[in-house]
Amino acid sequence: MDFEFPERINRAVASLTMQIAQRAIELRAQDEDIVDFSVGEPDFPTPDNIKNAAIKAIELNLTKYTANTGILELRKAIADKLERDNGLSYSPDEIIVSNGAKQCVYNAIQALVGENDDVLIPAPYYVSYPEMVKLAGGNPVFINTSVESGFKLTPELLESSLTPKTKMLILCNPSNPTGSVFHESELNALKETFRKGNYLILTDEIYEKIIYDGIGFLSVASLGEEIKKRTILVNGHSKAYSMTGWRIGYAAAEREIIKAMAKVQSHSTSNASTVSQYAALEALKGPQESVEIMRKEFEKRRDFLFEELNSIEGIFTSKPEGAFYVFPDVSYYLGKKFKDKIIGDVFEFSLFLLNEARVVVVPGIAFGNQNCIRISFSTSMDRIAEGIKRIKNALELLV
Ligand SMILES: Cc1ncc(COP(=O)(O)O)c(C=O)c1O
Repeated sequence: MDFEFPERINRAVASLTMQIAQRAIELRAQDEDIVDFSVGEPDFPTPDNIKNAAIKAIELNLTKYTANTGILELRKAIADKLERDNGLSYSPDEIIVSNGAKQCVYNAIQALVGENDDVLIPAPYYVSYPEMVKLAGGNPVFINTSVESGFKLTPELLESSLTPKTKMLILCNPSNPTGSVFHESELNALKETFRKGNYLILTDEIYEKIIYDGIGFLSVASLGEEIKKRTILVNGHSKAYSMTGWRIGYAAAEREIIKAMAKVQSHSTSNASTVSQYAALEALKGPQESVEIMRKEFEKRRDFLFEELNSIEGIFTSKPEGAFYVFPDVSYYLGKKFKDKIIGDVFEFSLFLLNEARVVVVPGIAFGNQNCIRISFSTSMDRIAEGIKRIKNALELLV
């Protein structure tokens, strides 16, 4: 059959890291011991109280469709959370529950970005943002940030990127892949530029609960009523409660925006999984100790990994202050040779680490960066130590 895909599908690309993932699968199939530093989810089980709430929901036959935007109790609990943790006041009809934060971002982009609208995305970025913009017919416009400035967007960078075509700015705070976190002073410095023009701000705060060094988290929406009105706040349960597979995320914004997002969702997935919504309700209302236990463990691993990476010749890393990723600059090694073959870019560098060190990392190009690799520390301390040892040994083979 002669079939042509629509332009918006052709413009979006599938995951760039498939080749590395495929090679890792092949090696594992041969019983090779692989250290996996590519993990994008917490390596802890979902807490028991949350699992039990889901079991109870099933027993009570709470297994049918819910309201499109989610059960009212959960939206109320989310509103309480936003008030308690972020000092933000939203009513339940300014909140939508979706199948993960990812669907919230997707719904928002579908609902708010039109053909040829520009969407500003600071790079490095979370892989899906540009592709979601393309799927909506919009243009992703990248703002490059550097390792030297801790990969943070500055007022100058933002100001010089704004045009009358700018429809939206997407922020990821704390950031996947860099682990950078906006401090209160940095967000305050951006405030004036956030108020300019007529664009919306989508803030992905999914790693809110995984922050280190006692840094306080400030939501972009807390910068004042004017900014709150133009902000779509996205958060969810995947990372804070180790609930990636339950698929629960939520967005809070002006009522009209939530209505438009609900329209998109009503014609795609209807509501988020009913059982997961009851589990998510318990996550917000029940004991919170597990959140801090996980955070502390991640902080220990971050400290160890950061120190180890800094002891390697030529590797430059900004210290992650949140999430569970480090994003070291490895450009020192690009252009070096392994057995007469030049390592030309970070993709080849990552493939080299997999083949010679049996360590999986994600090349920065997947996130719009040519010099770095992403190392996830969502694996045990022993595996981190083993992986670093292997990386050090492999790098000695490069000339
Ligand atoms: C920045 C960012 N946003 C969204 C998501 C997706 O989260 P969810 O599981 O809630 O869809 C991820 C998952 O890795 C992420 O890193």
